[in-house]
Amino acid sequence: MAAGSRGAAAFAALAFAALPAAAQADDEGRRLFTGVTPACALCHTLKDAGAAGAVGPSLDELRPDRERVIKALRNGVGQMPPFGHLSEAQIQALARYVEAATK
Ligand code: HEC
Repeated sequence: MAAGSRGAAAFAALAFAALPAAAQADDEGRRLFTGVTPACALCHTLKDAGAAGAVGPSLDELRPDRERVIKALRNGVGQMPPFGHLSEAQIQALARYVEAATK
């Protein structure tokens, strides 16, 4: 098991080194998805990010476009709090990532 996970980590490192710039931008969005406070992943399911939250709708099913994500983050929606504490760049990265991950 340990050897297997080391192998997987090595593979991930190699894959990362080979990623084009656009995929690295997605990687930032993926990190934000699980890393902002409160984390999107707490409340939303998104397979690409390994998230299985069930408070809000599954983003895999909702498949929101970029504009819809930006609007939700700026204003909040229903039970979802607004994320006004994020920078414009972070909001853009999240929106781009969620759209791309659910295409
Ligand atoms: C505290 C739980 C919670 C967190 C944290 C949260 N959401 Fe949500 N989110 C919800 C709920 C609940 C809804 C459904 C709101 C409604 O339709 O009334 C929702 C709705 C959405 C929608 C759909 C908006 C629409 O137009 O219907 C998007 C997109 C979304 N969230 C993205 C995110 C992203 C990206 C993050 C992280 C930055 C995040 N959410 C963090 C609970 C959360």
